[in-house]
Amino acid sequence: GLPARVRIHEVGARDGLQNEKAAVPTEVKAEFIRRLADAGLTTIEATSFVHPKWVPQLADAEELFPLVGELPVELPVLVPNERGLDRALALGARRVAVFASATESFAKANLNRTVDEALGMFEPVVERAKSQGVHVRGYLSMCFGDPWEGPVPIHQVVRVSKSLMDMGCDELSLGDTIGVATPGHVHNLLAELNAQGVPTGAIGVHFHDTYGQALANTLAALQHGVTTVDASAGGLGGCPYAKSATGNLATEDLVWMLQGLGIDTGVDLGRLTATSVWMAAHLDRPSPSRTVRALSHK
Ligand code: HMG
Ligand code: MG
Repeated sequence: GLPARVRIHEVGARDGLQNEKAAVPTEVKAEFIRRLADAGLTTIEATSFVHPKWVPQLADAEELFPLVGELPVELPVLVPNERGLDRALALGARRVAVFASATESFAKANLNRTVDEALGMFEPVVERAKSQGVHVRGYLSMCFGDPWEGPVPIHQVVRVSKSLMDMGCDELSLGDTIGVATPGHVHNLLAELNAQGVPTGAIGVHFHDTYGQALANTLAALQHGVTTVDASAGGLGGCPYAKSATGNLATEDLVWMLQGLGIDTGVDLGRLTATSVWMAAHLDRPSPSRTVRALSHK
């Protein structure tokens, strides 16, 4: 059976905008987040407290967070290390996310660490966050395939997943960073995680839509009992000039499917689509979401 309700973890303002070539003004980001909240999204990843040289697009985190901090929604932020946690806590963040990799190549490229060094870097972050009652998500990237290493063995994903859970993460988000997963692979990974003691209730899924599989993969995860799904308004994300990096599953495409299945999300699809059309005008290119295109051309 399928779940009665799905919690959408909206990542457009973070995963989407971190990939934009041109800097988006802080006030436009704040307005985007306000509109997403107004459309009924309740968990809106706001930004990252990472090194500004690594992700210049999100270097305005200190300016942005206070502009949206009072909204009546959850506003998780990414923190790679204690420096990032300090910055987030100083602004009153109540939800943080660390982000691990299932592969050595991406750990090096994304965090300048080996997989285990990165886990060591996260340990004090998770411990301190938890001691202050802050909710911690553990992202895990490259759960299916990796651009340098090819297909990623399931046991490698399970090992790092367990480390993140043992560390004290409240939830896990399984990332298909380059969008190569297919539904059978999703099923096999979730089954193995369960067999190794990671409960489905702690698992969220994070699909990028590079090969057009994100919605099919999401349905496979829902059939497995997953109720937390990451998505990005308008399918934001990915650089139009980079081949292996397209955006996340579009939130509108997800909501369209869930509505059809009778699954409650609390999202107003009309308002959400209007938000993505507004954002697309700012970015000067149309949303790649099929649902946004269909609904905005009516
Ligand atoms: P590093 O160069 O190894 O940094 O980068 P370091 O630890 O050696 O520190 C060097 C300097 O940076 C120090 O300053 C630190 O204070 C400073 P100095 O003492 O030399 O003056 N520094 C910081 N400054 C501000 N904020 C911080 C911070 N940390 C150190 N947080 C580091 C290591 C982790 C910092 C770097 O690699 C980094 O910032 N990486 C972030 C990469 C990133 O954000 N990637 C995108 C998010 S992940 C993703 O998108 C995947 C996901 O969507 C899921 C999926 O799709 O799979 C989540
Ligand atoms: Mg991502």
